[in-house]
Amino acid sequence: MPRIFSGIQPSGELHIGNYLGAVKNWVALQHEHESFFCIVNYHAITIAFAPEDLRRRTRDMAVGLLASGLDASRAAIFVQSDVPEHTELAWIFNTITPLGELERQVQFKEKSARQEQVMAGILNYPVLQAADILLYLADTVPVGEDQVQHLELSRVVARNWNARFSPDVPFFPEPQPKLTPTRRIPGLDGQAKMSKSIGNTIGLLESPEQVWEKLRPAVTDPARQRKTDAGEPAKCPVVYPLHRAFSPPPVVAEVEEKCRSAGWGCMDCKKALHAHMMDELTPIRVRAAELHDRPQEVDAMLHEGARRARLVARETMDTVRTRMGLDAAQ
Ligand code: AMP
Ligand code: TRP
Repeated sequence: MPRIFSGIQPSGELHIGNYLGAVKNWVALQHEHESFFCIVNYHAITIAFAPEDLRRRTRDMAVGLLASGLDASRAAIFVQSDVPEHTELAWIFNTITPLGELERQVQFKEKSARQEQVMAGILNYPVLQAADILLYLADTVPVGEDQVQHLELSRVVARNWNARFSPDVPFFPEPQPKLTPTRRIPGLDGQAKMSKSIGNTIGLLESPEQVWEKLRPAVTDPARQRKTDAGEPAKCPVVYPLHRAFSPPPVVAEVEEKCRSAGWGCMDCKKALHAHMMDELTPIRVRAAELHDRPQEVDAMLHEGARRARLVARETMDTVRTRMGLDAAQ
């Protein structure tokens, strides 16, 4: 069975960009693959944080993933810092990763530009990401489009390590991204991608009223000043892409027709979107509320996930240590 790995930062509440770009795909893929899904708290500490807050956000992320449909009896769902082999392998990979490869990562350039003092963890972030994936010898990584460059680096790392320490039969596979049809969900501003750090998100667990308060003022095709003006769905930066993600195909076809013919105003269109979003999101919100009240179950699930992950991680590290001569005292 092919093996998949993916990670998500413990940002607290999932937003619909995470859900549509990654997590929904994980839920579908867990049935056909041996799956590892990791809440990457070591990645999260590369930006400012408060310890108590990080702890809460980590648990909330576990709740969000389970409520979205991840099944702990199929997939190993765990917290990165519970499996110390991640940081061990990351150190090793740091020694075979050219500095130039890290400096040209777009996310490094963006993040470091925003800070006065740049910590080394921001630069080495994608090396830890390569370790996450390769520790499980995963060849498929379901992520959103923003992670494609990081995965290129994971392939460079795999290739470099194989060339030095496993030249005849490559030990590490070269992992490939697996994108969804909704690989980049725009934020409510209609410009940047939906992102917690920009503050343009719709939370996966927000109430129907909260979601409506965000949809109501969202920008649409600027050519539609009045309800009677015809519009073009392709120029509608938020509402139309969300219809494509949440509404059934016949409704999407109707949206296109009613927009071009000015049969619907933008408010009608937003109301239809809201109804279809709630059809999908309400069961998730209800499950999350139930899980929130049963924290011991969530903790037990994370422990079991880490136990299963460690079995694989230890095996990989045994091979890595042997091939690199790091096993002298054994
Ligand atoms: P993060 O919250 O940055 O850890 O992202 C978790 C996953 O969600 C990654 O696979 C991202 O590629 C994906 N993701 C985050 N934001 C978006 C977005 N606006 N559209 C599509 N996918 C996204
Ligand atoms: N960098 C990813 C993000 O911000 C999170 C991540 C860490 C990840 N390790 C990973 C994603 C391994 C896929 C595979 O979304």
